[in-house]
Amino acid sequence: MTEERVQLAIQPLDKTASVTPGTPFLEIARQLGVPLNLPCGGEGHCGKCRIRVVHGTAPTTQADLRHLSREEIAEGHRLACQLVVTSPLVVIIPPEALATGHHQILTSRGELRLRKGTPPFYKHLITRLDTSEARSLVDRIHRQTGAQPLTFSAIAELARYAHTEHTLTALVAEKSIVGFEPGDTRERNFGLAFDLGTTTLVASLVDVNAATPIAVAARLNPQTQFGDDVISRIQFACERPDGLQQLQHAVCQALNDLAQTVIRDAGISRNEIYQAACAGNTTMQHLLCGFHPFSLGRYPFTPVTLGSVSCQARDIGLELHPECHLYVFPAIGGFVGGDTVAGVLTSGLLEGETPALLVDLGTNGEIVVYDGQNLHAAATAAGPAFEGAKISSGMRATQGAIEHVWRDEGGELRYRVIGNQRPTGMCGSALLDLLAILLDAGIIDPQGRLTGCNARPEIAGSLGCGPLCERIVVHEGRPAFLVVPGEETSSGQPILLTQQDVRQLQLAIGAIRAGTEILLGRLGLSASDVQAVYLAGGFGNYIRRRHAQRVGLLPSAIPTARIRFCGNTSLFGAELALVSAEARRHAEELARMVQHVDLSADPDFRWKFAEAMIFPEQSLIHPEADRA
Ligand code: FES
Repeated sequence: MTEERVQLAIQPLDKTASVTPGTPFLEIARQLGVPLNLPCGGEGHCGKCRIRVVHGTAPTTQADLRHLSREEIAEGHRLACQLVVTSPLVVIIPPEALATGHHQILTSRGELRLRKGTPPFYKHLITRLDTSEARSLVDRIHRQTGAQPLTFSAIAELARYAHTEHTLTALVAEKSIVGFEPGDTRERNFGLAFDLGTTTLVASLVDVNAATPIAVAARLNPQTQFGDDVISRIQFACERPDGLQQLQHAVCQALNDLAQTVIRDAGISRNEIYQAACAGNTTMQHLLCGFHPFSLGRYPFTPVTLGSVSCQARDIGLELHPECHLYVFPAIGGFVGGDTVAGVLTSGLLEGETPALLVDLGTNGEIVVYDGQNLHAAATAAGPAFEGAKISSGMRATQGAIEHVWRDEGGELRYRVIGNQRPTGMCGSALLDLLAILLDAGIIDPQGRLTGCNARPEIAGSLGCGPLCERIVVHEGRPAFLVVPGEETSSGQPILLTQQDVRQLQLAIGAIRAGTEILLGRLGLSASDVQAVYLAGGFGNYIRRRHAQRVGLLPSAIPTARIRFCGNTSLFGAELALVSAEARRHAEELARMVQHVDLSADPDFRWKFAEAMIFPEQSLIHPEADRA
């Protein structure tokens, strides 16, 4: 008996599939490699994965009814994550539902320069493999190189060179000889560094001899298909028998693609990559290594390991030199990972004035406080609001996202869009700009209420609320601020900041601010004592510092000049681990000495969090906070 099949066509991507009736659309999209944007991981909560069925019958779900109007449903709009294919369908995916296009990905390492130490991988020249004496070849290699042991495959390889008189180059990884190359190849020694971000992945090809990065590539993490945040990915791994395998395969394939890009750009071969290093949050590192994240998803959020991992790159599916070693950074806690260790190692936190703060604002928010002696670290449940999730007009920093908002001399609102096109939504940096502007104008009060024109002149500043007040509209019965009218957007939908959006941002900001205050408090410090703030992470490096202070995300009571951007410290740490065994050892020490603080177990957290959700009064902002 032949199984019943139905046809699905996905336009404008020109993809087709013959599927069993009852197959979830999401599953088919994944198999066809259609990169859907799923901010809530396909849970039906965000309503942002809208597609349109233009031919065939698609039943409506409760989530469709919650997020789509009657007219939209009648026109065939559905949520991609809820759609089940039961009959032949033709579906159109609009650009905003696709996780493609140019993403604002941080690849810079700021002012940081790699300081070379003893490379964990190096090459040793074997001048002559003389077989005339009775000693074994292995003994001879030992004498020439020092006393490194040879791996089994290196001995087998050595045997192949027994009858040649050629010069050989021994490949030495972590004190073992792992292979040989004919001739003198010492000049060519390359390594790959990876920043394993929850949202983005970055690869940097490093010339180890010169301690210099020579090619960089970045892309969206394909695991976003399974959820925007680490919690939804842990859930995916736990709920499906092959969940972990799918997640591991997706990230590994993406790293192989990035490797291919940088290798091609630099004009070298995969076989010349002898070592790789990566840093990411604890969950991302677990998923890459194929360690099941089950225990990270349940209190007390225990990782499988906090130590660094050293393995053969091929063991996890990386296609590099067959003997390529992979080093994965040690972590500090369940949600404070190798990327934070890399940040402590490379940001300048340990060398500058103290007390100092390292704040890593990416998809997750991690904070480290250093008082010159002690290091305390915590992860905050900031959630993905800064990535645009849970914000009605929010989106990632990709094409079509408004990334900067300001007021011109007449007090009117201006904005800049990534890709210089019609806007689709707002990313995190623009959301912070807007909040700060509306707080300055008195349109949002310190409690986060959109109060409209009730601003007191002394609050609203010289520009007053001016033309901004005309942008207060009523949306679903509540006040909202109109950023861009529907006629000017790519989707025809207005871009709004709703009261609910302000609440979500207050929650995210409050979590980071409360976490910072608790960590400082543990060392007997307050925010005004802070001498330096090192800002790391994808989101952190695109925000306006003064706006971050205005909304309370960063300490308000210090001059803006004390806040320094330090680029992608996760990537920089991984690069450093390729050129310095000492840096690896230092990373291990730091991971052990940093005290991990579980904020959820802190008795003060609840009230500090509630307090931190109130925006700072303008009078509390340091007078030297610049206006840029
Ligand atoms: S509603 Fe479909 S991804 Fe959020």
